[in-house]
Amino acid sequence: MTERKVQLHRGLREVYIDRTTSSFIDGDEGKLLYRGYNIHELAQNSTFEETAFLVMNGHLPTQAELDAFDTELKNSRALPAEILDIIRLTRNSHPMDVLRTAVSALSAYDPDTEDNSTEATLRKGIRLTAQAPTIVAAHARIRDGKEALDPDPELSHAANFLYMLFGERPTDEDAALIDKDFVLHAEHGINASAFGARVSASTQADLHCAITTGISVLKGPSHGGAAEEVMKMTQEIGEEENAETYVRERLRSGGRIMGFGHRVYKALDPRSVHLQEDAKELGERKGEPKWFQILQSVIEVMEPYRRRGIYQNVDFFSGAIYYLLDIPDDLFISIFAMGRVPGWTAQVVEQFENNILLRPRLLYTGPMDVEYVPIEERG
Ligand SMILES: CC(C)(COP(=O)(O)OP(=O)(O)OC[C@H]1O[C@@H](n2cnc3c(N)ncnc32)[C@H](O)[C@@H]1OP(=O)(O)O)[C@@H](O)C(=O)NCCC(=O)NCCS
Repeated sequence: MTERKVQLHRGLREVYIDRTTSSFIDGDEGKLLYRGYNIHELAQNSTFEETAFLVMNGHLPTQAELDAFDTELKNSRALPAEILDIIRLTRNSHPMDVLRTAVSALSAYDPDTEDNSTEATLRKGIRLTAQAPTIVAAHARIRDGKEALDPDPELSHAANFLYMLFGERPTDEDAALIDKDFVLHAEHGINASAFGARVSASTQADLHCAITTGISVLKGPSHGGAAEEVMKMTQEIGEEENAETYVRERLRSGGRIMGFGHRVYKALDPRSVHLQEDAKELGERKGEPKWFQILQSVIEVMEPYRRRGIYQNVDFFSGAIYYLLDIPDDLFISIFAMGRVPGWTAQVVEQFENNILLRPRLLYTGPMDVEYVPIEERG
């Protein structure tokens, strides 16, 4: 088959692979809806617990539904002792590798692992949503030579994560920032990690397989790894007045500015608006406004790129927020992953409910019909 007869869609750019009701993205308008609800409204008014319910179940919960969902989340936070052992054994790995390994291993302890019904997949989605922060926080403490902490059932999902990480209850303001960050990361169309999760589900593998795949795909710097890279860049820039030279040099040498550009958004990523406000407010509150100012200067230097549809994305300000909350740099992607478990779950449910094997083609361009030469006759 020749190239002329096959239309290649490298990177699946602009290829629609199915229908969804989980989220809607208009990349030209910079618009994002979860289950029809605008991300701006959810960021301002919702909580992670409510948004996770919405994403997984398709409607906003009643108070009774939310209470039951919250109780299930809280009851599912603790990890089996064997998972804590696995975290100890792998403590020298990157936090995303530990999260991936622990999520995969949790399949051995989940009563519903092999059940791919909608009800069981949602039950597992709740458990993995609840367990992910416990894994990340336990690992962060264990590698620092500290004991992992039991979850605190009196705290919200976000506040409990900060508590398990730092060993003290966070302020309401700090917890609210992480809560909003989780809301903003909960779901986002067929991005690379959701695609990976769907490919797993399309073979009728189970949710633990799909979420393990999602975590694997998210790790790369072109996807979830960008926030960590942005913070590294901000530290390298060091002072606001260095931003222009740094950015120009980097672009001149063919480098990319991390936290800019997006496969779908060719306008401002609506999620970045909220993180920008939060990074500014937090920097001022912590008496460290300089990181926000550096990031603002980078945006100014990148202004001409807007004509090409390259704007700051969700990862541009999130790193600064985590940094100002004293969260170690290599935990940034894991926080993204924690927020995304509901979205991956919702898409796996969609895939199961109307399944088709995801199996595209590759155009072969290698040699044809090459004669096999026995090893002793090869030169
Ligand atoms: C996200 C990303 C991978 C999307 O890539 P994509 O849709 O495949 O777009 P491409 O890689 O083909 O880039 C298109 C053009 O924009 C440029 N571009 C894209 N992102 C850029 C960035 N962050 N800085 C500078 N230039 C960028 C590319 O150099 C390319 O220019 P060219 O056409 O002259 O070669 C890309 O924008 C990127 O690498 N961003 C930085 C990483 C990041 O922030 N990721 C988090 C995404 S939420």
